[in-house]
Amino acid sequence: MAGKGDRTVFACQSCGHQSRKWLGKCPDCGAWNTFAEERERVAVRGPQDPLARVNRPTRFPEIEPQADVRELTGLEEFDRVLGGGIVPGSLVLIGGEPGIGKSTLLSQVADRLSDLYGTVLYVSGEESERQIKLRGERLGINPESLYLLAETNLERIFVEVQRLQPRAIILDSVQTIYSSKIESAPGSISQVREIAGQFLLLAKTLAVPVFLIGHVTKEGSIAGPKALEHIVDTVLYFEGERHHQHRILRASKNRFGAANELGMFEMTAAGLVGVTNPSEVFLRERPVGVAGSVVVAAMEGTRPMLVELQALVSSSRFGTGRRTAQGVELNRAILLVAMLEKRLGFQLSGDDLFVNLVGGISIDEPAIDLGIVAAVLSSFRGLPLSPQTVVFGEVGLAGEVRATSHAAIRLREASRMGFRRVVLPLTNLSGLALDSQLEVFGVRSVSDALDVLF
Ligand code: TYD
Ligand code: MG
Repeated sequence: MAGKGDRTVFACQSCGHQSRKWLGKCPDCGAWNTFAEERERVAVRGPQDPLARVNRPTRFPEIEPQADVRELTGLEEFDRVLGGGIVPGSLVLIGGEPGIGKSTLLSQVADRLSDLYGTVLYVSGEESERQIKLRGERLGINPESLYLLAETNLERIFVEVQRLQPRAIILDSVQTIYSSKIESAPGSISQVREIAGQFLLLAKTLAVPVFLIGHVTKEGSIAGPKALEHIVDTVLYFEGERHHQHRILRASKNRFGAANELGMFEMTAAGLVGVTNPSEVFLRERPVGVAGSVVVAAMEGTRPMLVELQALVSSSRFGTGRRTAQGVELNRAILLVAMLEKRLGFQLSGDDLFVNLVGGISIDEPAIDLGIVAAVLSSFRGLPLSPQTVVFGEVGLAGEVRATSHAAIRLREASRMGFRRVVLPLTNLSGLALDSQLEVFGVRSVSDALDVLF
């Protein structure tokens, strides 16, 4: 309800930047046409006001340590991404494009949690109870103590939470829920912030985990999970390409574990199934003996992963070649190609160049640099690499190959997957316990690497 002293502000629906007047372009995040009129409430000092409560500073040694209690769902990939299970009282945001499988994942999580820990409440503002039940049947679940609630009003949801006292709460989705205390439309930046803030308090007070589902649109027309990242404890993004079965759940922020941890799933006719061996999935359909294909050893969080990188170099019909990259950073690829031209004298500027990381995954660690270089040159020269070879290493602008982290783990993964040869930075070799199954080549520069590879 609008109170006395409330004022109208315009807020960017993409990043939350506020302005007195409407703006066509957000000065903060640069998005166009994202300003919407909202009502800003003037804070009323009262007993609930945080400033009315007095917290005194406590000496560090006097603070009681808290045991790291975790609730496991038994969905291994999900538990892993959270840093080893769910922390009671945590607020977790799960973002992803529509249709990627967020509701499916959380239905499976709800099923496991209700089986193991008791009452779970699944609030949906998008689907009816019947629709959710239908999905559940498809997933082959029939949880005894899972409660469904089709409701969009925050205050009414809170009434049901008080009545039910659930052990976990799922909100599908944060953009459809609204508080009657705020005048803006559901999905607007002030609404989603209010919802997240209220559920954060609820999670802490009841010491139960709350999962917020949030849609991310490419256009950013709905107030996105981005605006909530600093409020919640953990942010997970569910990614993947609609036409691939693989789904990747990635932690981009985690107050209770490592960010960047990654879980992998496959969408099947009966829901999401965890993939415990990602390398195997990524290399399943690898062409053997084809120029332009190379296997790189990458790290995602604490996990090694062998992935196929493909490059295609073809002469351009126009003067300057086009460059496209999928799954790797385009600017990185352009930089490496420029280095190949300048330092090693390869004439690539007139060619079209495509680089693709197979399997719908994207990796931005520099350790795949050497793989990009190898794939590009393999395609350029029409020479296939030995299919038994794995490469990794960061490449600098002088053409030098630099050390990467976790060399031993990458080597072990290569060996486990049956590869025979590894090309890696020379500086990584010292102190490595070598596996007799593997032929290991330490290289100092890209030209050293080319001698070994071709
Ligand atoms: P959904 O979880 O509804 O996506 P979101 O909540 O992120 O919008 O799932 C969307 C897709 O998943 C839908 O196209 C159908 C597919 N799907 C399966 O392939 N197998 C299944 O068992 C289920 C439940 C869904
Ligand atoms: Mg959904």
